[in-house]
Amino acid sequence: MPTVLTHSSAETEDLGERLGRLAAPGEIYGLSGDLGAGKTAFVRGFVRGVGSPRRVHSPTFALLHEYPGGRCTVHHLDLYRLAGPEEIRGAGLDEYLLAPEGVTLAEWIERWTAAASDPRPIRRIQFRSVDEHRREITHDDPLP
Ligand SMILES: Nc1ncnc2c1ncn2[C@@H]1O[C@H](COP(=O)(O)OP(=O)(O)O)[C@@H](O)[C@H]1O
Ligand SMILES: [Mg+2]
Repeated sequence: MPTVLTHSSAETEDLGERLGRLAAPGEIYGLSGDLGAGKTAFVRGFVRGVGSPRRVHSPTFALLHEYPGGRCTVHHLDLYRLAGPEEIRGAGLDEYLLAPEGVTLAEWIERWTAAASDPRPIRRIQFRSVDEHRREITHDDPLP
C-alpha cells in the first residue's frame, strides 16, 4: 500500500496531476476520507493532468460534474449525500461506476458497495488528515 504525505493543497493537486497524466478511459477511482481530507484538491490536479482546461468545483450539492476538453472526459461524483447503492442507482450515477466512457473519480466511494461481478475494478485512494496541512494519501497501486 504505497503512501505519500503531502504538506499543502498544492502538493495534493500535484499528485492528482501526475495520476491524471497517466489516466486512461474506462478507469474508476474511488476516493475516501473525511470532509477536508483533500479529495477535491486531488481531483482538481487530476483534471489538469488529463488536460481539461475546466476549473474543478466541489460537487457536494451537484452529485456530478463533467470536465471535457482533455484526453478523455472526467466525471467527478460526490456520493456524500446518497445513503447507499440504491440511491446511487436511483440518481442514475451507477453507469459511471460500472461502465464509464471517460474516467470516473468518485468522492465518498464507500457509499457504493462494489459487487464482485462489477465489470471494472475500482482504484481506491484513501485520504487522511494528519494535522492542519499534512495529508496522508494511500493508493492500492504505486503512486507516481
Ligand atoms: N496537504 C493538503 N492537501 C489537501 N488539502 C489541504 C492540505 N493542507 C490543507 N488543505 C486544505 O484542506 C482542505 C481540503 O479540502 P477538499 O479538497 O475540499 O477536501 P474534501 O474534498 O476531502 O472534503 C482545503 O481547504 C485545503 O486548502
Ligand atoms: Mg470534496
